[in-house]
Amino acid sequence: MSDANPKDSDAVYDVVIIGGGPGGYVAALRAGQLGLRTACVEMRGALGGTCLNVGCIPSKALLHSSERFAEAAHSLSEHGVIVGDLSLDLGAMMARKEKVVAELVKGIEFLLKKNGVDYVRGRGSIPAPGRVEVALSDGGQQTLETRNIVVATGSEATPLPGIEVDEKRILTSTGALSLEAVPEKLVVIGAGAIGLELGSVWSRLGSEVTVVEFLDHILPGMDGEICKQTQRVLKKQGLSFLLSSKVTTAKTEGERVRLQIEPAEGDGEGSTLEADAVLVSIGRRPYTEGLGLDEIGVKRNERGFVEIDAHFQTAIPGVFAIGDCVPGPMLAHKAEEDGVACVEGIAGQGAAHSGDPGGHYDRVPGVVYTWPEVASVGRTQEELDADGIAYRVGKFPFSANSRARTSGERDGLVKILADEKADRILGVHILGPMAGDLIQEAVLAMEFAASAEDLARTCHAHPAMGEALKEAALAVDGRALHA
Ligand code: FAD
Ligand code: NAI
Repeated sequence: MSDANPKDSDAVYDVVIIGGGPGGYVAALRAGQLGLRTACVEMRGALGGTCLNVGCIPSKALLHSSERFAEAAHSLSEHGVIVGDLSLDLGAMMARKEKVVAELVKGIEFLLKKNGVDYVRGRGSIPAPGRVEVALSDGGQQTLETRNIVVATGSEATPLPGIEVDEKRILTSTGALSLEAVPEKLVVIGAGAIGLELGSVWSRLGSEVTVVEFLDHILPGMDGEICKQTQRVLKKQGLSFLLSSKVTTAKTEGERVRLQIEPAEGDGEGSTLEADAVLVSIGRRPYTEGLGLDEIGVKRNERGFVEIDAHFQTAIPGVFAIGDCVPGPMLAHKAEEDGVACVEGIAGQGAAHSGDPGGHYDRVPGVVYTWPEVASVGRTQEELDADGIAYRVGKFPFSANSRARTSGERDGLVKILADEKADRILGVHILGPMAGDLIQEAVLAMEFAASAEDLARTCHAHPAMGEALKEAALAVDGRALHA
């Protein structure tokens, strides 16, 4: 345990965590399990952070509800299920989403209590190592003395210069999760996870959605072939894409927003778009405002992320940082892994961890919850080419998977990249039904350094979507059975 400010008194915490998101609250739960005297400080009035309150959970609730609506509108009749006049009760859909969020938030409060963690409601700052000052939500100040501090303050939407968000017509994801009416026309700026997920929600509910993306492809960082196929499928569902384009201005004029679009590069001709709502989803940036990090000497990189060592410790002994506010994938499960590994380190344990910033983020899966879903772990084909690594590719389409056919799913594929000689799995990329769940088999295989042959020789239940993974693994050696 770090002894940055060792004081032995009952009033001294072993660890105070600032931020109650998936990074912070999970770190707090693990610290409690390990018998550390722990407090978790959260200012939003609810635990769960961005993820539970305005991120993963409400977006997945709306994705699920809107999928049911789209299914009733377009595909249930194929199954012989005839729905009469279909209508949308957006209020009820939103109320369901809020209920799911509220129940999960309450569950976290219960878990903190169960693990003996003090939940302090208020805004934390660090006047000095070993001390957290809390401006309490219901008034007053509280000073917490502690041996260790974990900064888990997360991230916020990156603003687009010149475009003012009002959360009514010009929105971040937070506003786009709570619209009171379906916009007739929605422009989404940025074809990343947020843009495609929330673009899908509103498109299914009736919006005409145009996605404007700076790059010449969607979903940067994902395997190129999967990106192309995903774009094709989303286009079929009704989303339009303007690639290699940037929005330079968005001005509200009465009930409408007028956008100026320019080519991303060069002096090609610009164009204008009109919309009822605009979603700005061009990425997120670390949030560390008001903590006093600079004053105590904690270093941040040029993009504002807190710099940490392989034990999540900042430049200041006894001050650690995890989750979205440190470099690495900005994902809830990565923040959770960070939290556990960081606190175990504080408690003197040194277990290797996929959340260890010592370079193991390559086994953190990424999932985009469009339908079909997109899921990925490890290296992309483009990355292997760039690094000159020799590989073999195995692919299998869901159109040849019997379970996918029984469900009426034909789009997508599993793609496995394996080392040419050693056959070790280097990357797995899936576009398909339940890809977000299927990817876990690949993550586990990679965690145990499996070869494609290992996966191919593992018995898979039939009929199941997972058989597509087995077949793709067989295809690495040119011996897929059903294609
Ligand atoms: P956060 O969840 O941001 O939590 C930080 C907390 O710290 C906040 O509650 C904040 O109020 C609090 N805080 C900040 N400063 C202080 C202070 N000074 N004092 C007290 N409290 C403070 N990720 C996925 O893995 N899967 C998904 O499906 C997914 N969907 C998403 C959808 C949307 C729309 C968005 C916006 C994000 C999504 N993410 C998803 C990303 C995910 O939400 C983040 O990666 C995750 O929440 C990061 O966790 P964190 O604990 O680091 O930070
Ligand atoms: P992102 O970084 O995933 O995508 C942003 C996109 O905007 C990129 O494609 C980028 O090229 C584009 N862009 C940037 N500037 C632009 C401009 N001026 N004009 C047009 N396009 C521009 O960011 P996003 O989607 O906002 O998500 C933020 C974070 O939240 C991500 O880190 C993501 O991992 C996380 N998240 C994860 C989800 C999941 O795991 N399912 C769901 C939603 C968010």
